[in-house]
Amino acid sequence: MQRFSDRRAIVTGAGSGIGAATVARLLDEGAAVAAFDISAAGLAATTAAAEEAGTAKRLTTAVVDISLEDEVIAAVDTAVTEMGGLEALINVAAVQSCSHTHETSLDEWNRTLAVNLTGTFLMTRQALPALLKSGHGVVVNFTSTAATFAHPYMAAYAASKGGILSFTHSLALEYAKQGLRAVNIQPGGVSTALANSTLDKMPEGYDLGLWTKQTPLLHGKDNEILGDPSAVASVVAMVASDDGAFITGTEIRLDGGAHA
Ligand SMILES: NC(=O)c1ccc[n+]([C@@H]2O[C@H](COP(=O)([O-])OP(=O)(O)OC[C@H]3O[C@@H](n4cnc5c(N)ncnc54)[C@H](O)[C@@H]3O)[C@@H](O)[C@H]2O)c1
Repeated sequence: MQRFSDRRAIVTGAGSGIGAATVARLLDEGAAVAAFDISAAGLAATTAAAEEAGTAKRLTTAVVDISLEDEVIAAVDTAVTEMGGLEALINVAAVQSCSHTHETSLDEWNRTLAVNLTGTFLMTRQALPALLKSGHGVVVNFTSTAATFAHPYMAAYAASKGGILSFTHSLALEYAKQGLRAVNIQPGGVSTALANSTLDKMPEGYDLGLWTKQTPLLHGKDNEILGDPSAVASVVAMVASDDGAFITGTEIRLDGGAHA
């Protein structure tokens, strides 16, 4: 399938997990991709995977902290200029920390909101002119099941993801007449660095019994309990392609049925 042979995309969080899988999938389908991440090592791994797949000539990378306005402005402008335009922005990057809410520091709260929510806003604001110019731009934002189903010990993360969910709906309505679509991907239980370390991040005295609905009904590769990032990337590709032409202002939940 070559749904992106005439399409250009920016992917954040591209150095790990779902973001890296999304870059691989879009490249595989013919896209030109600008991959952003705060981790140079993560981007090097994403580039190495593209070299192995023979798609690296359509990939550029940039080390960007999406919470920093100046870095986002420079990186988005450079990517749009180098690729000659932009059809898709995939906002994947996020951080997750866990704590009892009464012990959550203001620094932890602010950093979580700054990366997850403000970073998504900064990326979107800077990319919007190019996306609108294309006439069929798409913004795919990463929220979480934490945005709509209670997740204990991660109030800052859940609040940031709830903010993204609402932000995306605003975008969808505001720019629909200009051909822009905005869609939330709402994952849960996907095997990545972020999810595989959640239990290690739990605060002292946490109650595992509160996690009643987190286990996927379906399984990942090799019968792993958590799902595979490529299973999310394939849906992102569908949404960002013309196959998703009638999808906007909504969520697609990808949690292997954990909240069925
Ligand atoms: N894995 C899951 O089960 C799950 C569940 C719900 C939501 N999500 C969401 O899916 C998305 C992808 O997460 P993942 O599981 O692949 O996690 P991950 O930790 O594997 O990848 C996140 C990437 O974001 C990057 N990043 C962090 N801070 C950044 C910053 N300031 N600027 C730029 N890049 C930054 C990291 O370096 C990393 O490469 C996230 O938005 C996450 O909240 C994942």
